[in-house]
Amino acid sequence: MSDLAILGGKPVRTRPFAPWPQYLPADAARMQAVIESRHWGGYPMPSRYAREFADRFAQLHGAKYGLCVANGTIALIAALQAAGIKFGDEVIVPAYTWDGTATAILFAGAVPVFADVDPDTYCLTAATAEKCITPRTRAILPVHLAMRFADMDGLTALATKHDLRIVEDCAHAHGGCYRGRGAGSIGDLGCFSLQESKLMTAGEGGIVITSDLRAFEHLQSQVNCGRASMTDQFEQRVLGLNYRMTDLQAALLIGQLDMWPDLQARRDAAAKRLSAGLASIRGVRPLPEQAEITRSAIYCYVFQYRPERAGVSRDLIAAALEAEGIPCDGRFYEPVYRSDLFYATPENCPQLRTDYSGVHCPVSERAAYDEALWLPQFLLIGETSDVDDMLAAVEKVMHNFDALSRADPALAGLKSMSRAERPKYQRAQNY
Ligand SMILES: Cc1ncc(COP(=O)(O)O)c(C=O)c1O
Repeated sequence: MSDLAILGGKPVRTRPFAPWPQYLPADAARMQAVIESRHWGGYPMPSRYAREFADRFAQLHGAKYGLCVANGTIALIAALQAAGIKFGDEVIVPAYTWDGTATAILFAGAVPVFADVDPDTYCLTAATAEKCITPRTRAILPVHLAMRFADMDGLTALATKHDLRIVEDCAHAHGGCYRGRGAGSIGDLGCFSLQESKLMTAGEGGIVITSDLRAFEHLQSQVNCGRASMTDQFEQRVLGLNYRMTDLQAALLIGQLDMWPDLQARRDAAAKRLSAGLASIRGVRPLPEQAEITRSAIYCYVFQYRPERAGVSRDLIAAALEAEGIPCDGRFYEPVYRSDLFYATPENCPQLRTDYSGVHCPVSERAAYDEALWLPQFLLIGETSDVDDMLAAVEKVMHNFDALSRADPALAGLKSMSRAERPKYQRAQNY
């Protein structure tokens, strides 16, 4: 008999992990100040906190300008438009990402072209992107996924060679640095989500950063119904919408910035301890270190299930870990072209000439269905003993591989459901 919790035994962990989101007492005072100011509305006017957050956030990442917007998906759409992407242009995007990365490309009128990811970082590389270049390619949209960076050296060289723009999806990479350069400041524009599960959050929200004044002015008009930007040196007139962030959202973000250095250090230390421990457990593999990362951003801690023999699915391992009291997901993302949230056909997206049924990205599919295990970042901001509990749970589950191989595979339950099938609260939290 096994003592695995999923088979009726006692779980390793019954105490909850650190709560998320975190907040500061000063947040309430800032919210109160916005309420009493009677200026609740959207950036750019008057929006004291949205201005302060955008400036400090841009500076943290080494960009000249920042612009708050309603959410991360809108940030991507506005950034693609500010980068000059037009109807029918092709944009190369990794297959292994949140569906919204690709849907934003469609909503900007362009065509997402899916490239596979690197097996050690799960991110786009120049080699995988280059295979997707056609005469219609205008941009690359790398995603810095979970805890790793896309191959920005290679992608920058590729973009220069083919005269492409780079819009970075940094929804997982707040505060992260690649060779000393902040996420989002390496390409032409960088986009961040501030949704509830993210490393800085206002519940919902987004921000675009750039050092290109023309793009910044375009963005300001884009998100503010086409009104002229605050500086308007380039006198661009664009068809815009209201994509603004309220100052009530922005008031929460000041505290998020203030807390970030401490939380970043905690996640970094916990991730190192976790990687060291996982390295000695048979059947799992921590992602190899990525030397280019000079400051980590860990949205989720991802490691790999590499069993020595067949017989237990990755989804069952995820379910077994969760039963041990460790929040965990395997099917966090599907390759977007296979996700049932990605309803993109030539009928509903006139820029598409074909549907995506012929696309196959083997590394993304292996990660999504067989290999990757995702632990949410709030597991890394508590006590050292939290990490030890995670390691004990992984050790216990892997040690009981034989018992799991005889267990009913249906126990994987929720962990093997598609995104559309999952209960609403899980989709909303996105982990
Ligand atoms: C990689 C990635 N890109 C884009 C987004 C979109 O951000 P939002 O949910 O704020 O619209 C998310 C958020 O889940 C994401 O994880």
